[in-house]
Amino acid sequence: MGVEIRVEGLTKAFGSQTIWQDVSLTIPSGEISVLLGPSGTGKSVFLKSLVGLLKPNRGHIWIGDRDLPYLSEGQLYETRKLFGVLFQDGALFGSMNLFDNIAFPLREHTKKSESEIKRIVMEKMDLVGLVGAEGKLPGEISGGMKKRAGLARALVLDPEILLIDEPDSGLDPVRTSFLNQVFVDLNAQINATFLIVTHDINTARTLPDNIGLLFRRELVMFGPREMLLSSEEPVVRQFLNASKIGPIGMSEEKDISELEAEANMGLEAGKLPPIPPQQMPSNGLIRPTQHAPGAWCAAHGVTPPPGSFIDELGRNWVEEWPRYVASMSAVAGQHAGPPPGPGPQGPGPQAGPPMGGPQGGRPQPPGARY
Ligand SMILES: Nc1ncnc2c1ncn2[C@@H]1O[C@H](COP(=O)(O)OP(=O)(O)OP(=O)(O)O)[C@@H](O)[C@H]1O
Ligand SMILES: [Mg+2]
Repeated sequence: MGVEIRVEGLTKAFGSQTIWQDVSLTIPSGEISVLLGPSGTGKSVFLKSLVGLLKPNRGHIWIGDRDLPYLSEGQLYETRKLFGVLFQDGALFGSMNLFDNIAFPLREHTKKSESEIKRIVMEKMDLVGLVGAEGKLPGEISGGMKKRAGLARALVLDPEILLIDEPDSGLDPVRTSFLNQVFVDLNAQINATFLIVTHDINTARTLPDNIGLLFRRELVMFGPREMLLSSEEPVVRQFLNASKIGPIGMSEEKDISELEAEANMGLEAGKLPPIPPQQMPSNGLIRPTQHAPGAWCAAHGVTPPPGSFIDELGRNWVEEWPRYVASMSAVAGQHAGPPPGPGPQGPGPQAGPPMGGPQGGRPQPPGARY
């Protein structure tokens, strides 16, 4: 059931270049979190620090009772087995076919027999919709298939924590939507803790339970999706609405004269757009870490922007949610799971209704593979 990651006062510099400083956040276990930030703000460096590939200059990364930066090599090796990582470039071995690529961590880190390895590899290939492509080389498949092969490889050791760096870079919007569906379905099945770095604003708005934003060498905010999507904080608001108006400029930060010119022209950020419904599993499950839509806003006295939580069929998911949970429970013989109590960032994530989800309260069949 996933593992919580607690980061305290983390600082990373390369020589005199501070990448980020005093980063503190708790990534809740079993939930999907997304990390955003302009290019070069250190998102990949952050993921690499979490898995112990880069050593921070200061601070702590608690994985259970283990403080990652201060572990011995042996302890770090053991702790790394909790992680599955999908690097920004996929990092597949070009001369190995997909089967061997995906089997690699099992052959490297376990003493499993080849028949057992085959069973696991085929199971993970099935999970990401790659059955039939075992014999292909990375150079013979599409970008989307490479991402899914990288994901299958990240999954073979049954990770408690999945770190995924820009799964959507180089993918068209349709494939990005399908890949996001794979993440949601996967999270519902394996309940691992997901941290996904993305530049895709639609993904950030619809996929996660929590959102974090790195800017100007700091973590500007981290918390439940509804908290950030209803936030008036200028950087958060500009980034999550992909707006030109605000403190972020082409070279990361606008200078004073640019901001003054903006103010003089009377330019100001528009109204916050509606909070969209959260993407739901297509496989008839409800993720154990999901909360009811609008729950965070209600608990914090925040009025969500008009039109929030309404899907493309006009259904208001604040109202639909209890019915949906009841019908899903009846069908799947499960329940939505207890909402976790208030955590360090608030009461935790909020539930999400489906994007193109079940009709008439019936579970939707598994999403199409591409
Ligand atoms: N091993 C390294 N040694 C020195 N500097 C590094 C190293 N790795 C990254 N950097 C620097 O750290 C900064 C942040 O890099 P990082 O790759 O984490 O950015 P990012 O937020 O992931 O960007 P993008 O969105 O473009 O992927 C950059 O200035 C980069 O040059
Ligand atoms: Mg990066």
